[in-house]
Amino acid sequence: MLTTELVLQALSNVQDPELGRDLVSLNMIRDLVIHDGTISFTLQLTIPSCPLKDHMAKDARETLMKLPGVRQVHIEFGSMTAEERKEVLNNGKRSLPKLNTMNRIENVFSVMSGKGGVGKSSVTAMLAVELARQGQKVGILDADITGASIPKLFGLPAGGLRGGDMGILPAITPLGIRIVSSNLMLKEEDTTVAWRGPLIAGMIQKFWDDVLWGKIDTLLVDLPPGTSDATLTVMQNLPIKGVMLVTTPQELSGLVVRKAAHLLNRLDIPILGIVENMSYFRCPGCDEEYPIFGPSHSAQLATDFETTLFARLPVDPAIAELCDQGKVEQVQLPEIMALAAQIMLETKIHL
Ligand SMILES: Nc1ncnc2c1ncn2[C@@H]1O[C@H](COP(=O)(O)OP(=O)(O)O)[C@@H](O)[C@H]1O
Ligand SMILES: [Mg+2]
Repeated sequence: MLTTELVLQALSNVQDPELGRDLVSLNMIRDLVIHDGTISFTLQLTIPSCPLKDHMAKDARETLMKLPGVRQVHIEFGSMTAEERKEVLNNGKRSLPKLNTMNRIENVFSVMSGKGGVGKSSVTAMLAVELARQGQKVGILDADITGASIPKLFGLPAGGLRGGDMGILPAITPLGIRIVSSNLMLKEEDTTVAWRGPLIAGMIQKFWDDVLWGKIDTLLVDLPPGTSDATLTVMQNLPIKGVMLVTTPQELSGLVVRKAAHLLNRLDIPILGIVENMSYFRCPGCDEEYPIFGPSHSAQLATDFETTLFARLPVDPAIAELCDQGKVEQVQLPEIMALAAQIMLETKIHL
C-alpha cells in the first residue's frame, strides 16, 4: 500500500546536493497527493530558478519509481518566500555557537574560491597582515583542514599550538595575528591529514568553540576550495557576516566560482566582494600591465551577483617568494592596502 509516510520516507533519502540535507527536512515537499499509482507533489525550491532543480527532481523521481505500485511521478516546482527560506536554513544550524565566554569576536569573514591554487590563502594572509598594520586585532581560522597552508605563509613551525586549562591557545605571529590551523597541531608539517567528513567538521567546530581567541576585530576563515562539506560546516555553524570570493581571470571563464557564489546566495550569506588575483603582470621597467592569463571577467561576475569588484591583484614574483619563505608579513602591495581599507569601510569597522 502506497502511503504518505512511505513516500516521505523514500524522499528523505534524496539530498539537495548543495545544502547537504534531504528534501523532507528542508521542507521542500508540498501538496503531496497519491492516487492510483500516481504520486504528485510540488518541489518547493529555496530560490526560484535553482539550477539544481532538474537534478533533484530526477533523483526524487528515480527514488519513487522504485517503490512498489508506483506508475507515475508528477513533480511541479514552486519556490519559498524569503521568510520560509530563512526558517529552513536556520533549522539546519546549531542553536547558537557556544563561543568561549572569554572571547569577543566582532566580525567573522570567510574567504572562498571555486578552485584551488588561485591564491586564496595568500590573499587571506596578506589581508590579515594589512588589517593588523592598520591597528586591528586579527585572527585567522584555517578551515582548510587537509590543505592547511596558513602557518607556512607566516613561517610558524608545526606543533605550535598550546593548550591551557581554558582552551586551545592560538599561535601568534610577530605582528600579533592569532592563528589556528590543523598544521599547527601536527608534529611534522608535511604529514597528510587523512581525516574525512565528520572529523573535519568536528575539528573546525573545535577551532571555534575551544580556542581562546580573546578580543578580535576581524577573524578571517580560510576555506578549502569549492563547496565541500567543510565549507558548509563553516557557513552553517559559524556566524559568518560575509564572504570574500577570490578568483583568477582563468577561473572566471569557468563555472566553479559561480557555483560558489550561487551557494552563498542560497544560504543568505552576503558576498562582500570579489578579489581577482593574478590579474596581470606589471612590467617592472615601464609600469605597463600585461593580462597574461587572459581578459578579466570579474566585473561581469560582480554585476551578476550584485556585489563589488574589490581588487585586481598583479602576479608578482616577490609575493610568491615571500610567501614561500614564510615572510608574508613583509609583503607590501598597494592593492592589498586599498582592499583592507575597503573591507573596513564596507563593514563599518571602527577602531
Ligand atoms: N599574486 C600572486 N603573485 C604571485 N604568486 C602568487 C600570487 N598569489 C598567490 N601566489 C602563489 O600561488 C600559489 C598558490 O597560492 P595559495 O594562496 O596557496 O592558493 P590557494 O589557497 O587558493 O590554493 C602559491 O605558491 C603562492 O605563493
Ligand atoms: Mg589555500
